[in-house]
Amino acid sequence: MNVTEQLAVALESARARSLSLLDRLDDEALLAQHSPLMSPLVWDLAHVGNYEDLWLVRQLGGTAVLPEIDELYDAFLQPRARRPELPLLSPAEALRYVERVRGRALELLESADLDVEDPLLSDGYVHRMVIQHEHQHDETMLATLQLSGLVVEHASPAAPSLDWSAAGEVQVEGGGFTMGTDLDPWALDNERPAHTVPVPEYFIDVAPVDNAAWIAFIEDGGYETRTLWSPAGWEWLCEEPQHAPLFWQRAAPGTWQRRHLGRVAEVAPHEPVQHVCWHEASAFAAWAGRRLPTESEWEKARSAHALEGVGYGWEWTSSDFLPYPGFRAFPYREYSEAFFGSEYKVLRGSSWATDATVARPTFRNWDLPIRRQIFSGLRTARSA
Ligand code: AVJ
Ligand code: FE
Repeated sequence: MNVTEQLAVALESARARSLSLLDRLDDEALLAQHSPLMSPLVWDLAHVGNYEDLWLVRQLGGTAVLPEIDELYDAFLQPRARRPELPLLSPAEALRYVERVRGRALELLESADLDVEDPLLSDGYVHRMVIQHEHQHDETMLATLQLSGLVVEHASPAAPSLDWSAAGEVQVEGGGFTMGTDLDPWALDNERPAHTVPVPEYFIDVAPVDNAAWIAFIEDGGYETRTLWSPAGWEWLCEEPQHAPLFWQRAAPGTWQRRHLGRVAEVAPHEPVQHVCWHEASAFAAWAGRRLPTESEWEKARSAHALEGVGYGWEWTSSDFLPYPGFRAFPYREYSEAFFGSEYKVLRGSSWATDATVARPTFRNWDLPIRRQIFSGLRTARSA
């Protein structure tokens, strides 16, 4: 397959995944706002189409399929909590819209020359961006479905098998490390450019923190330590009040259950913990006499193949979401640059809901430190 064919296949498989998440849901489930943190699912669907209309149709072909809906589906203009009040396309209209856009995008892709200097088109950059955008929204839609409590077994891809051989920690020697990439054609603006960072010697967990360790933290009063409460008063720092990972509930003494895609089951002791916020992750690490890794420590260990269990859940790092030296916003400020600063924390790795086109060692995810509806866990580290 040549690059054009590969991109067409990847576009199609992203779409097949989006539709498989949505096509067993009725209009009510598609239009509802299941959580104020999230959009109605039908907004995500039309937004994915609108993004493609903007980048693969208008940018490459000159005329968008439906430019008059741009503002409705602009994530910056429309706060999530207010999206249900908008005059959105109906589920049927949204489906027709994304199909029309896709038809046009594929036509334009077929006649496009990707062997060019233009950085937008070169080697399919903008197509890869649009493919990843759809997969990222699929993950967002899975988080919405998880919050909704609806039973959606069809939506659960197989998690990587729990087969790590080693527990404990690995020592990573100090020295310069090349972080980020100039070469990976899938890499987005915030992963570039490649640059050398000094990383002093450190130790990092081979495997992510599991539920058994998290239960020990709970039982030991981990949630009562000051780290989880604002310095000014005893105000809880994470979103949602319960003092356990989101979606957990205490069953018989010492046992916990969790709801996953609408089904309640006992918490599996040796699965990586999920649905914890950055404050909880930091408090756990401190309780364990350790700390969160920085994102350079995480990426260095990943590139040395020292980590197991990557791909169950996003892993919180201690790092703020900041530009690499030499960063250039491309092709638009609102993908990364608008989020740089100390407000957002970086997560690394990927989750069971992340597609392979996104799950790469250099990929940087970010969220607010109070958030735990994302599929987030951690591994811990310590300085040598
Ligand atoms: C990289 C997951 C933080 O969902 O806000 C989706 C991805 N950017 N549409 C997000 C994204 C534009 C982004 N994250
Ligand atoms: Fe988006």
